[in-house]
Amino acid sequence: MKILGIESSCDETGVALLDVSPDGSATILAEALASQVSLHEKYGGVVPELASREHMRSLPVLLDEVLASSGASLGAIEGIGVTSGPGLKGCLLIGVTFAQGINLSLGVPLFPVNHIEGHILSGELHERALRPPYLALVVSGGHTEIVLVEGLGRYTCLCRTRDDAAGEAFDKSANLLGLTYPGGARLAAAADAFGGKASRFKLPRVAREMEDFSFSGLKTAVLQLVNRHRRELQEDPSLLSELCWTIQDAIVDPLVRKTAREVRSRGLPVVVCGGVSANAELRRRLQAECPRVHVPPLRHCVDNGAMIAYVAGRHLIGGTTPPKLEIVSRWPVESLAQAYGGLA
Ligand code: KG4
Ligand code: ZN
Repeated sequence: MKILGIESSCDETGVALLDVSPDGSATILAEALASQVSLHEKYGGVVPELASREHMRSLPVLLDEVLASSGASLGAIEGIGVTSGPGLKGCLLIGVTFAQGINLSLGVPLFPVNHIEGHILSGELHERALRPPYLALVVSGGHTEIVLVEGLGRYTCLCRTRDDAAGEAFDKSANLLGLTYPGGARLAAAADAFGGKASRFKLPRVAREMEDFSFSGLKTAVLQLVNRHRRELQEDPSLLSELCWTIQDAIVDPLVRKTAREVRSRGLPVVVCGGVSANAELRRRLQAECPRVHVPPLRHCVDNGAMIAYVAGRHLIGGTTPPKLEIVSRWPVESLAQAYGGLA
């Protein structure tokens, strides 16, 4: 089934055309992504109104690009998946309206997709042997949770953050260090330059004994550390890499520790997904600690249209009744089993 996927929940516009088979395998016929980094960089973060306008500008261009490079006509599309939450409301509205337009002209089914389910299923999209039950470590700008995947649409959250998400901890710490948007990736690049030698800086491991994750205390600790070492940091810029390494270590350590604990106690494979799964150190340590780790390719760790098309394809083929088409800024994956009708 040829499915068009549309993603516009935050600062990346993604469009993809996938051929999804009943056995769950999929061929990516074409995909295109428009990053808005240069647009938001000068403001130090995502400006929702500008992001929405840019999605509106990019969507038709990306659709043309995907159709041209796949060689498919618009009429070849048999189903549409569009992210309807969670995310920035104005941005979601642009993607959903665009999808409704195509839906109206083609009369093919439209499936509203939960963005986090998209990240979770990006593991199955790339690994044919991976099928439930398995665990998913979802780490993005708004989410940090370990999810038990028991079937398509059946997700139980085992452990989540009590406050900030891991991506938020990366971004806020980067901000305190004067690293501008996209701070998380810049902090990680600086940390990699230091590369795991023993660091002179120390940060508390707040959540080590807790069941859940917690990252909000980290930014206070980072602020205190930056204030304490401000003069040295100005005199020796190489110290910045060392400090970034310490911060990255403080974020990655609880993610790996708690994921490894669940993997060991349940004997299941684990998928790492969401924007923070692009972090090389996180991937490296998980692979060292857990026996069966699946990480999507980098282009599918960040937001993209392929994962959205894949979720829609799986549900449309599986006979799931689509949830109500509405924009939802908060939409926990545990609630999906109720939102969907006719789950296999
Ligand atoms: O999934 P995503 O692209 O968007 C959301 O759905 O939130 O995740 C974005 C998050 C941001 O917080 C960004 O700083 C973080 O992923 N991120 C990284 C890296 N690349 C992106 N964090 C750490 N290391 C990276 N290499
Ligand atoms: Zn995401």
